[in-house]
Amino acid sequence: MKTSLGTLAIIILLVLDPFQQTFAVNIQLQQGQGPYVSTPARLQRTLAKYGLRGKQTISRLGPTKGVVNMTSAFIDVEYIGIASIGTPPQQFRVSFDTGSADIWIPDNQCIRCGLHNFYDPLQSSTATQENKKWIIKYGDRSAVEGVTVKDTIHLGDIRYPSQRIGLARNETPTLTKDSFLDGIFGLAFPSISRTGLNESAVQTMYRTGAIKSPVVGVWMGRTVADNGAGELIFGGVNPNHFSGRLKYIPIAKKGYWQILMNGVNVNGKEQLEDPLQAYIDTGSTLIILPPALSQSIHGVIPGATYSRDGGWRIPCKIKQDSKGIDISFRLGNHNFPIKVSDIVREIIDENNPSLCYSGVTEAGGGIAILGDTFLKSYYSVFDFEKSRIGFAPSKS
Ligand SMILES: *[C@@H]1O[C@H](CO)[C@@H](O)[C@H](O)[C@H]1NC(C)=O
Ligand SMILES: *[C@@H]1O[C@H](CO)[C@@H](O)[C@H](O)[C@H]1NC(C)=O
Repeated sequence: MKTSLGTLAIIILLVLDPFQQTFAVNIQLQQGQGPYVSTPARLQRTLAKYGLRGKQTISRLGPTKGVVNMTSAFIDVEYIGIASIGTPPQQFRVSFDTGSADIWIPDNQCIRCGLHNFYDPLQSSTATQENKKWIIKYGDRSAVEGVTVKDTIHLGDIRYPSQRIGLARNETPTLTKDSFLDGIFGLAFPSISRTGLNESAVQTMYRTGAIKSPVVGVWMGRTVADNGAGELIFGGVNPNHFSGRLKYIPIAKKGYWQILMNGVNVNGKEQLEDPLQAYIDTGSTLIILPPALSQSIHGVIPGATYSRDGGWRIPCKIKQDSKGIDISFRLGNHNFPIKVSDIVREIIDENNPSLCYSGVTEAGGGIAILGDTFLKSYYSVFDFEKSRIGFAPSKS
């Protein structure tokens, strides 16, 4: 049975937000054909990003299969938008990633960058070659390296000059094979930059007057309910995509976007003994928790089992009916219940369509990573000025 899905076709629209007078970059995702990165592979990628490879309990994680096919109902959503670079603009599909700080795209001199869009600095009248070498190693043996350039960035109708950009000259196969995106647009703080940024791209936009406040608002829609749409706004928030008031949590440290997780409530019972650092990561798919917490959550899901071959499996029917399962995270001083249906991911085996991967998975290291599986429930606001993250229930 053919069930491969994947390539995201992207439409980008400019919207002048009447409430905030900011520019919105609308990102639409559509399903197409192509290989898809499985839940176990996504876990490995995220662990590598946070230097947690090898921190997972060995007996609990078996070999991962790089690519699996999946059915449309459980299409994976990697939130991709267009960033254009140079004059005239050259377009790239990028992941807007609060879990990293650098911007990188493939260079036309790349020796190994797969079938992606390539940037040609000679075709841009605003490019300034810097040729500073950089390398990003993800720890799972995937890596990307290259040189730097400075050029103008266009995001929707925003344009700002002199952004340092990493030009990839060599990528390892896991990156060349990613058919969804050309590169990464990092939104974290400069202290974790590998290309020598002294401020985040959002701060540069603000300093150069392209946006009125150094804030990013993110809406991640659901595949079926919202047709896979999402929206990212630089310079403000879009009140049409959340209900109620934003609840803000101060960030614990300026590096990644990290805040304090003060509780995990599962069916009315508190599971967390000591507060944890929680990383809010638009560039990761899953929710990753210390094993004891992940086990408490799956403990209230009838039929959940753990497999060495890729983690927790849960009945796919939870997607339709999750009555009696309540999961809530306490971030700062606020409670954020999640929609349990959001944790049901792709079918594991086409011959047994009743079991799906769980979007909650586990790793040691004593931290929590809240990726898109959490962010689908909450509109999120990354506020560089006040060093805080805001959340409010998201709305299509
Ligand atoms: C996935 O789908 C592709 C294209 O239909 C097929 O060639 C491949 O064998 C499938 N892989 C699996 C593991 O089913
Ligand atoms: C970063 O460097 C740019 C260019 O040299 C400079 O204009 C800007 O003020 C610096 N930003 C910070 C936060 O130091």
